[in-house]
Formats: sequence, C-alpha cells, structure tokens
Amino acid sequence: MTPVTVRVPAKVNLQLSVGPQRDDGYHDLVTVFHAVSLFDEVTVRPADRTSVRVTGQDAASVPAGRANLAARAASALAARLHRRSKSAVHIEIRKRIPMAAGLAGGSADAAATLVACNDLWGAGLSPAELREVAAGLGSDVPFALLGGTAVGQGRGERLTAALAAGTYHWVLAFAAGGLSTPEVYATCDRLRAARGGNGTEAILSTELMAALRSGDPAAVGPQLSNDLQPAAVSLRPGLRRALDAGREFGALGAIVSGSGPTCAFLAASAGHARELAVSLTGAGVCRGAVRVRGPAAGAAVVAAEPG
Ligand code: C5P
Repeated sequence: MTPVTVRVPAKVNLQLSVGPQRDDGYHDLVTVFHAVSLFDEVTVRPADRTSVRVTGQDAASVPAGRANLAARAASALAARLHRRSKSAVHIEIRKRIPMAAGLAGGSADAAATLVACNDLWGAGLSPAELREVAAGLGSDVPFALLGGTAVGQGRGERLTAALAAGTYHWVLAFAAGGLSTPEVYATCDRLRAARGGNGTEAILSTELMAALRSGDPAAVGPQLSNDLQPAAVSLRPGLRRALDAGREFGALGAIVSGSGPTCAFLAASAGHARELAVSLTGAGVCRGAVRVRGPAAGAAVVAAEPG
C-alpha cells in the first residue's frame, strides 16, 4: 500500500447564528461555512501501530499520538468498516492552519485523514458515508470534506451546498495564542444570561444568501455576522482593535472567524487584500496576516507517492 496525501482547507463562517443551548450541551446553529485557500496536508501510510507526527505551524502545541483528532478519525473509519487487522496508520500532518484559531484546523486534519484512509484501504465509502463518520468526530469535520460554501445546521454537521458566485479575497489576521471553543460558547451563554436571555432560534440570513448569489464582495461584506464575536472579543479585548483597523483600511467586512481569535477581512480585490495584509501587520494589531481566496475545494487526494 503506497502512502496517500490529502490537502484540506481552513474555513471561515460568513454567518454564525447560535441558538439556545440544547440538552446535550451543544447549540443549534445556522452557519454559512466558506472554505479558504489555507491548507494543511496529511499523509497516511500503513504502520504497526497508529501514530501522529505534526510539522509546521504550531507543531509543538498540536497533540501528537492518539490524543489527536486525526488518529480518532482513522479509528472511527476502521470501526465503520469493521476493519480489525492492518488498520494502524502513521499520520503525518503538515500544518499551515494555526491551532485553536477558529479556522477548524483540527477538524480539517481529521477530515483529511478520513479521505486518506478511505483511499489507502480501498474502502470506497461515498462522500455521504464519509460525512456520516465525520459528524461523529466533530461539528466542523463534515464541512472540511465538502468545501466550497455551504449552509450548516444542527450542530453545524448537517450541510447543504450554497449557491455562491465568484471568488472572494480575504485577509486572515492571526492572534497570538488560541481560544478554547467550549469556553467561547460558554461565554456567549453567560453574556446572554446577563442580558436576561438565552438566545433566540438561529435563522439563515436571506440577505447574505442573496449577496453570495450576486458574487459582489461589496454586497457580501455588510452581511457577515457572528454571534460568537462578542464572546471572543470579551475574552480577547485586543481583537476589537484588529477589527477596527481592518475597517479603517477599507475592508468590506470584518469579522471574528468562528470561535476566534483569527479575524477575517473581506477585500475588494486581490490587490486590496495585499495592501490590507501589509497594513494590518504594520499596525501591530495581529501576529501575522495571510491572503487567501474562497471558496476552496474540500479535502482531496493530491498525491499517491510511489511506494
Ligand atoms: O463538535 P466539536 O467537538 O467541534 O465542538 C467543540 C465544542 O464547541 C463543544 O464541546 C461545545 O462546547 C461547543 N459547540 C457548541 N455547539 C455547537 C458546536 C460546538 O456548543 N453547535
């Protein structure tokens, strides 16, 4: 069996509407996922026992071994296939997506591992079957398989592809250190309780969907929304400066990505994105900034190296 390499994108949420907390602790969501051209690469090869090696961005702080969601993804797929022998794999993750950044990097690596093992083992599960396994691993894992632009419901795992035209140019501004997703959701609940509510039912923004169909970033920018943003900003007050700076530099939209702390800025063009990235870095409001395009394709095999 020759090693299989899969490339997988990061995501931003163009809308993240968070409903009240459910009995199982999760929140019902309506979200619009958008995959962007910041990719991790995952290579999977047969091994005597399952192991994970991480190189690149944040490598030292990404859990190695069985604690990594990618290792759990390989086990979950083996279980789904009733594959008892020869299911151990060595998983090598080359990270460019920062960790705990609101970009679903860990979920992306798990999704990539599912696609890689499906190929390595010649299992032939369909995309829909892989998405089912993915949903058991985490709310954002199914979308990393699908890519593009899609509406997520339930915990975020129930997906419908969205009609979106054109290419969007973004700047992702990274913060130093990450944010814990459960802590951001809990803070969101606390802020709501302090205002005497627990959140209303999450609904899809028809204005955002219409703007996406138009393909006009100037129409999309004002419709970006994230119910987790007040919580992320209260945990990391410095994010407010980054968001304000982006708007001052002419971003069409400025938003915290997912549970943060990465901020996503929508630019008018590739050239504008370049200027914005330089300005944000120069203003000292972020650890670094990269330009990306969306939508990007979901997890896909890029190479099967000769054994
Ligand atoms: O599904 P995943 O493991 O990625 O979720 C991480 C955490 O984010 C959950 O444990 C929960 O605290 C929070 N979460 C939530 N509602 C969602 C998705 C995530 O409360 N729809």
